[in-house]
Amino acid sequence: MSTTISKGTAVVTGASSGIGAVYADRLARRGYDLILVARNAARLRERAQRLAAETGRTVEVLAADLTRPADLRAVEARLREDHRITALVNNAGVGAAAPLLDADVDAMEAMIHLNVTALTRLTHAAVPGLVKRGGGLVINIASIAGIAPEILNGTYGGTKAFVVAFTQSLHHELAGKGLRAQAVLPGATRTEFWDVAGVPVDHLPQEIVMPAEEMVDAALTGLDQGELITIPALPDLADWQAYEDARQKLKPNLSRSEAAARLKPAA
Ligand SMILES: NC(=O)c1ccc[n+]([C@@H]2O[C@H](COP(=O)([O-])OP(=O)(O)OC[C@H]3O[C@@H](n4cnc5c(N)ncnc54)[C@H](OP(=O)(O)O)[C@@H]3O)[C@@H](O)[C@H]2O)c1
Repeated sequence: MSTTISKGTAVVTGASSGIGAVYADRLARRGYDLILVARNAARLRERAQRLAAETGRTVEVLAADLTRPADLRAVEARLREDHRITALVNNAGVGAAAPLLDADVDAMEAMIHLNVTALTRLTHAAVPGLVKRGGGLVINIASIAGIAPEILNGTYGGTKAFVVAFTQSLHHELAGKGLRAQAVLPGATRTEFWDVAGVPVDHLPQEIVMPAEEMVDAALTGLDQGELITIPALPDLADWQAYEDARQKLKPNLSRSEAAARLKPAA
């Protein structure tokens, strides 16, 4: 089933599996043509053919390893030059579960390249054109680890905290110019992520694991409802609002000409 009204083209990174594959499906059914990005070209082609047949939309494949500078720059060039692009879903990402003392620093560096550097460069490439053309959509897939870094590898949590802060700033700077930004903070979601992170998803308590389809559908409902930050599992939005209100309350006191009285050296 597809809509005949085109919403332009959405670029979805990490579209070969898991959450990104569901976004590709849902965005095609919402009327977007697609450019699917990931390393596994065969898997992308198979998904592209199926989606094009099912929805009637144009679905293109751009195979790229976003940790490789040349590949990343090729995707950036496409985002800068293709004026049909109206949406970017920064979804490609990897995780890890090992604590710092057991973590492989080269794997952590590669994670930062994918989760932070690639997301930043792709957004930077896409946004000027989106704004120039009157607006557009950037969905950044963060994680609950971005606000709860104690639950998995700390570098992973740090990369996702970056995604949350970057998205809040994107909204602050560019909402007035027509840019819709959303950060999605999934909890545990049933995908291959857990194999890569080294924790079989079946070893998690099943009451905390959401199917990828349900997670993405909830995130898109949050988008439709105008949410900047969407936590698909959170039952009561007021809990997030209280957290955000506490953050805002700190703001007037975060930078002052004097140190806090409690921190002044004893005379
Ligand atoms: N699953 C969860 O519990 C969970 C929870 C919170 C947040 N997230 C976030 O959700 C996002 C999607 O993950 P997922 O759960 O859907 O896991 P997934 O099924 O493993 O998907 C990851 C996607 O990223 C692509 N990818 C990995 N390395 C890449 C690279 N170097 N260059 C380009 N593409 C690359 C993979 O495709 P190729 O292998 O073909 O490159 C795949 O399409 C990630 O940002 C993750 O941090 C997941």
